[in-house]
Amino acid sequence: MLPQIRATRYVTPLKEGGSLPGIVEASDCGTYVLKFRGAGQGIKVLVAEVIVAALARLLDVPVPDLAVVDLDERIAKYEADEEVQDLLTASIGTNLGVDFLPGALGYDGALPPPRELAERIIWLDSLTANVDRTWSNPNLLVWHGRTYAIDHGAALYFHHSWPGRAPDPDRFAAQPFDASRHVLRDVAGDVAARHAELSALLPRPALVAAVDEVPDEWLEPTPWLTDASAVRAAYVSMLSARLADPRAWLPTGGDR
Ligand SMILES: Nc1ncnc2c1ncn2[C@@H]1O[C@H](COP(=O)(O)OP(=O)(O)OP(=O)(O)O)[C@@H](O)[C@H]1O
Ligand SMILES: [Mg+2]
Repeated sequence: MLPQIRATRYVTPLKEGGSLPGIVEASDCGTYVLKFRGAGQGIKVLVAEVIVAALARLLDVPVPDLAVVDLDERIAKYEADEEVQDLLTASIGTNLGVDFLPGALGYDGALPPPRELAERIIWLDSLTANVDRTWSNPNLLVWHGRTYAIDHGAALYFHHSWPGRAPDPDRFAAQPFDASRHVLRDVAGDVAARHAELSALLPRPALVAAVDEVPDEWLEPTPWLTDASAVRAAYVSMLSARLADPRAWLPTGGDR
């Protein structure tokens, strides 16, 4: 379970983020980048953030700690900026807190991660269909000399089709991944050669535990997935199917 805390002060918007994330102080005295449930992209983005960060931890890819952050209406009420106030008001309830890494640098290639970490990150992005780690949007931070992966909201995009059709694990398994524009492509070696070792770190119980980190109320039922536990099981099936058959999505050594 992720820690459950409360936002105590909205500090400032993070201008860089497309979804208008904000910095907040929280009841545990920590400072968090808050990803809002009321942002335009919807709550599924937060689900992807939680699941992919949990998989990253299993693969020993550094990610900031996450927390579920409750936002109450008083914080929204005292915000002067109208656009931010609307976002805060739309986000009353639970949101995703990403531990703020003070002074972290955006990745620019000057301090590349070790080759084998670059391979783990590309493999994770290929598995979860995360297209959001290119030079135009690296979504990597360098903090105390280590490379951290952030912003996984674009991954697992299959869930955006769930309101309209039943989950299709075979279809996801067969979805190719284009790693040629990945920001770490030139740092990594043969990603496919790592598949056996890395997939062994994600046995089914580990997938179940990763998906279990998502709060129940973020798991929207659909006509086919009528409660949170059905939605959880669907995420596990999708990931299991893709892990079991990597032929379509595994970046080959030849992609370099
Ligand atoms: N934990 C963190 N610590 C420090 N800075 C962060 C952290 N998370 C995000 N940032 C900064 O905020 C920016 C936006 O964050 P993020 O990419 O997660 O938001 P987003 O709204 O999904 O962005 P976009 O859609 O524009 O990529 C990052 O590029 C980074 O500069
Ligand atoms: Mg980003």
